[in-house]
Amino acid sequence: MEYLGLDVGGSGIKGAIVDTVSGKLITDRFRIDTPEGAEPKDVSITMHKICQHFQYTGPVGVGFPSIVQHGIVLSAANISKNWIGQNINVLLSQESGNQIFSLNDADAAGIAEMKFGIGQEYQKGVVILLTIGTGIGSAIFSDGVLVPNTEFGHLKIRGKDAEHRASDAVRQKEELSWKKWGERIDELLVTLEGLFSPDLFVIGGGVSKKFEKYAGNLTIKTKIMPAMLLNQAGIIGAAIYAKEQFEGSG
Ligand code: BGC
Repeated sequence: MEYLGLDVGGSGIKGAIVDTVSGKLITDRFRIDTPEGAEPKDVSITMHKICQHFQYTGPVGVGFPSIVQHGIVLSAANISKNWIGQNINVLLSQESGNQIFSLNDADAAGIAEMKFGIGQEYQKGVVILLTIGTGIGSAIFSDGVLVPNTEFGHLKIRGKDAEHRASDAVRQKEELSWKKWGERIDELLVTLEGLFSPDLFVIGGGVSKKFEKYAGNLTIKTKIMPAMLLNQAGIIGAAIYAKEQFEGSG
C-alpha cells in the first residue's frame, strides 16, 4: 500500500509517497521551506501544497517536531508556541481534506529504522535512536515496541537542555570541531546508557553521514551505529504510521 509521509522539520517540510511494504520511496522527495515562525496556519497551508504536488487524497502520516499525544501537540521547542494544545490531525485535515495521522518526528524515524533500517536485527532488546538536527529527537524501542514521546533531547546536561549543547544547529552555530561536538553528544549518550542500558544506539539526522569523524570521541560501551535510511527515515516512518493507524482503525 502506498501512503504519503511528511516530515516537518525546523528548516523544511518534506514529503514523498512511500511503498509501505518495501519501505522505499516511490516518488522523489518534495520539500518546501518551513514558513518563518512555523505558525499552525502556515504549516497547514504548506502541507496542503505538498499533498497537491503529489495529487494525493489518501491518509497522510505526519512526523512533527514536538510531543504529539493522540494528535494533541504538547510542546513547542522549535516551532510556534501557538501549536500547544492544538489537535494537529484535525487542524491539518481542515486545510487539506486528507485524513491525518501525526506522531513525534523522531518516533517516526525510529519506526522506519526498526522496520527497514539498522534496527531490523534488534527486534529483541532495547534500542535508542537519536535524530540530530535543529533539535535532538529521541525514540526508544523495547523488543521492537515504541514508547512514544521520550524527549531525551531535553535531558539536562551541565544545566542545559542536551539539544542546546549538542544539536547539529549548535555545532554549526558555534563552529564546533567534530571532536568537540563528539564529546558533547557523548555526555548525552553516557547519561542514557546509565539510565537504560540499551543494546544499541542509532544516530540519525545529518550528522549520521559524518559518523567516522566523531566515533573516536565516544566513550560509551554500548554499540552505536549511524542510521541507514538517512533523510528518508522520518518520511518512511510517518507513512508506516499512517498505514497502521488507518488500517487498524478499520
Ligand atoms: C523536540 C522533539 C523533537 C526534536 C527533533 C525537540 O526540540 O522537543 O519533540 O523530536 O526536537 O525535531
